[in-house]
Amino acid sequence: MAHINAHFLDLPGDYLFSEVARRVAAYTASNPDRKLIRLGIGDVTRPLVPAIIEALNKAVAEQAVAESFRGYGPERGHSFLIRAVIRSEYAELGIEEDEVFISDGAKCDLGNFPELFAADSTAAITDPVYPAYADANIMCGRRIIHLPCTAENGYMPQLPATRPDLIYLCYPNNPTGTVLTKEQLQIWVDYARARDCVILFDAAYETFIREPNIPHSIYEVPGAREVAVEFRSYSKAAGFTGLRCAYVVVPKSVRGLAPDGGRVSLNGLWTRRQSTKYNGCPYIVQRAAEAVHSPEAKAQLREVIDGYLDNARRIKETFERLGLSAVGGVNAPYVWIHLPKGVDSWDFFDTLLTKAGIVSTPGAGFGAHGQGCLRLTGFGAGAATAEAIERLRNFSW
Ligand code: MLT
Repeated sequence: MAHINAHFLDLPGDYLFSEVARRVAAYTASNPDRKLIRLGIGDVTRPLVPAIIEALNKAVAEQAVAESFRGYGPERGHSFLIRAVIRSEYAELGIEEDEVFISDGAKCDLGNFPELFAADSTAAITDPVYPAYADANIMCGRRIIHLPCTAENGYMPQLPATRPDLIYLCYPNNPTGTVLTKEQLQIWVDYARARDCVILFDAAYETFIREPNIPHSIYEVPGAREVAVEFRSYSKAAGFTGLRCAYVVVPKSVRGLAPDGGRVSLNGLWTRRQSTKYNGCPYIVQRAAEAVHSPEAKAQLREVIDGYLDNARRIKETFERLGLSAVGGVNAPYVWIHLPKGVDSWDFFDTLLTKAGIVSTPGAGFGAHGQGCLRLTGFGAGAATAEAIERLRNFSW
């Protein structure tokens, strides 16, 4: 019999959002008439904006005509999209075309990228954290260093006492909705440069940033091009959670150590990995993603994101009126609520589900330091969020 990768046995029972879905399905099965409001997983609810639909339709029509039909595309993505990304997002930041890789999602990219590093390398992750980073590294048997991010340290992770090889940072943060200023991010870039670490920077929520001096890209910070790989996604920025498109920026100057002591560019390794294991994001989706960078789509999307941010702001205010403090919801779609002292976050999740019919995500699901907290998203439809707020006004636990 083939031996399994025993590291899978070290994973927590279910992936967080599968566990939440299981509990919600069990509740729905015994309460079929209860109308639930889903503010748990960060899934968008507003339809694609007209400028994107137009591009998608045009690309679909091209597939019906022999002259414009497309088969396999370049594994790294079509140059029309890569150029649009550079023009719109990295014009001033020195990123080149062969440093951008288009894919079908940041979750896959973040999960696959650690393949480039030795199994015995260490990964530092904030705690609480988007669970896919931790799970992907546990699957490889990697040692994880947890960096607590709590109200006590103002959600600013402390530099690790022992040097990690990899550092995962996600800002604006999932799950807490907090941000780092340029100066705070500079501390991490300097640390990584001084100790030869690689930063995996998840910028999936950068379009939600509304305050000044909050970096949209880690490459706004001097020195980052030597040590940081950046992950971006169209999921939350443009409503692509179903359509699927994202990209990774791997500057050629970011390097890792070979067994012979040589320094190897991660860009070359990622190119090799992707061209072997990936055949590229669908052409029609890449045309839709290209449209995201047009001035028309940007204006339409601004209004959509503002709507989600408004939901988040109102959710936060509602909990504050209930006497609970919260962070996030200003530059991010997530609101992170501090529960009353001693209240378990899975218990509160159950109470909110059964008493108010609201689906949330328990903080403990994001790591030990998420215990005692709860995450709600602003991604609900406006009317559903308004109803949730109404239910919360009369909520007691
Ligand atoms: C979340 O709710 O944390 C996200 O939607 C998960 C994801 O982006 O995969």
